[in-house]
Amino acid sequence: MEDSIYRGRRLRGSASLRRLVRETNLPTGQLVLPLFVEPGEGVRKPVPSMPGVFRTSVDELVRDALEAQELGLGGIMLFGIPETKDDRGSGAWAADGIVQKALGALKSETPDLVLITDVCLCEYTSHGHCGLVENGVVLNDPTCELLAETAVSHARAGADIVAPSDMMDGRVRAIREALDASGFQQTPILSYAVKYASAFYGPFREAADSTPSFGDRKGYQMDPANAEEALREAFADLDEGADILMVKPALAYLDVIRRVREHTYAPIAAYHVSGEYAAIMAAIERGWLDQRAMLEALISIRRAGADVIVSYWAREFARSRLE
Ligand code: PBG
Repeated sequence: MEDSIYRGRRLRGSASLRRLVRETNLPTGQLVLPLFVEPGEGVRKPVPSMPGVFRTSVDELVRDALEAQELGLGGIMLFGIPETKDDRGSGAWAADGIVQKALGALKSETPDLVLITDVCLCEYTSHGHCGLVENGVVLNDPTCELLAETAVSHARAGADIVAPSDMMDGRVRAIREALDASGFQQTPILSYAVKYASAFYGPFREAADSTPSFGDRKGYQMDPANAEEALREAFADLDEGADILMVKPALAYLDVIRRVREHTYAPIAAYHVSGEYAAIMAAIERGWLDQRAMLEALISIRRAGADVIVSYWAREFARSRLE
């Protein structure tokens, strides 16, 4: 071998050299931690399929959020589990709903965290679908109106960003118009623009108690086989006023994240979802993998082109960073 030839190993010889030429980093300020909140006091219930994830009451949620703030995380994503459900999901937009209460409690405590709320009906409807159901079909346009009402009520309660995750057509426009009409022109919309009908949401549905009681979500969420369609969805949401585009799940869709990155100029978020987290955690618990696998997964999402990463491991990541 000639001395002048390229030798990749020259820059791999020490940790400091490797750090010097590292292409991808994961700033904690761009990590978002999902948190589940339910009624009560002093509640902290572990989610069996998601080690390290809990359903908590508002008081405990505030503790978790304060910790997230201390660790320098970018934000939290709130999911509510209401006391009661009905066929319209009215708990979603109730002024005294669980997410609204949580926002009230958090607002003055966590000024450095971006408070993002999940805007969807599936945790609030008795049938578990993301919208109004008539004759077994999820209605699109009437659902958009309810989502808009939900988004406004979140903004009113103190949400910094609203994040519709329902996949109805036209909901970003409906939400933008409603927010503007209510004086919330400055509230950004993080749209779950590219959300697949994925088997990787299983543990979340257990945590949020939102499994559909009949059928599935294939009539509104995307077919996992489609990537071109992701761009149509992304452009549609940008046209309607989305500020940040989310791709979800993340690991099984790294190509889609990259595609959306290359074809749009909006900030991109990616959600490393419950099943993706659970799979790695289960392997760690069995001793089949170690924690570096989670780091590798998160960095791959970043490398694919995501700016914001939603991860159940966000706190662990920030802690391991501080060590
Ligand atoms: C609500 C919603 C879901 C997730 C986020 N928002 C579940 C679903 O669409 O069934 C999944 C998040 C995760 O799996 O971590 N529509």
